[in-house]
Amino acid sequence: MEAVECIKTRMSIRKFKPGLVPNSVLTEIINTAQRSPSYKNSQPWEVVVVSGKKKEELSALLVRLLEEGKTPAPDIPEAVSWPPDIADRINELMKKRSALMGVDLNSPEMKKKSKAANFRFYGAPHGIFIFQDASLNEWSIFDAGLFAQSLMLAARAHGIGTVPQAFLTDYSHEVKQFLGIPESKRLVLGISIGYPDMENPINTFRTSRVETEKILRWVE
Ligand SMILES: Cc1cc2nc3c(=O)[nH]c(=O)nc-3n(C[C@H](O)[C@H](O)[C@H](O)COP(=O)(O)O)c2cc1C
Repeated sequence: MEAVECIKTRMSIRKFKPGLVPNSVLTEIINTAQRSPSYKNSQPWEVVVVSGKKKEELSALLVRLLEEGKTPAPDIPEAVSWPPDIADRINELMKKRSALMGVDLNSPEMKKKSKAANFRFYGAPHGIFIFQDASLNEWSIFDAGLFAQSLMLAARAHGIGTVPQAFLTDYSHEVKQFLGIPESKRLVLGISIGYPDMENPINTFRTSRVETEKILRWVE
């Protein structure tokens, strides 16, 4: 697939077909993502793919922690507040998604249901977790973001869907314990990955972007 088309047609997939992606294809996608640029070619990313029974067990663990009301403690904390223009974009997204689903996604009950769906990897057959050494600074988190985007684009080129999920880092400590990752590592991001179920209405949702003029300034 042509690069620009790949970038423009990638979207977050929130319902997947159950079929497994062959390990060879997942390896090829991750290998492609390794071509991402990074600060001094430091390549500050480590990847765990969880599938099958282990993925089901991890989902059950995360849903149980949610049900017990355990306070999330992600390695990268959630923002406490947003500048007004950014807050407006977030509100617009939530309003549009709520309209599509026919529910108020901001209600406490729906927030919990939505988190549980995240913890079930939206039905995807695989979850990908990106880690890096916890001593690394913001540039390395930036690099991991580049890696994540390359991974999602490489997946898209293979007809495979993804969704990046900060929520999958809510219980970083427990995820690391479950996957056998030491506490010296930071969990940066979770990504659900699999063949997209494009028949499901949830995957008809398209997000908008602000007009280019609003984020671009020419100085000449
Ligand atoms: C760092 C990051 C964290 C995200 N966390 C979540 C999440 O926890 N759950 C979820 O459903 N989507 C999550 N998303 C997906 C965004 O909501 C989505 O990328 C955005 O609304 C734009 O939509 P698009 O990906 O379809 O273009 C996340 C995206 C990024 C980049």
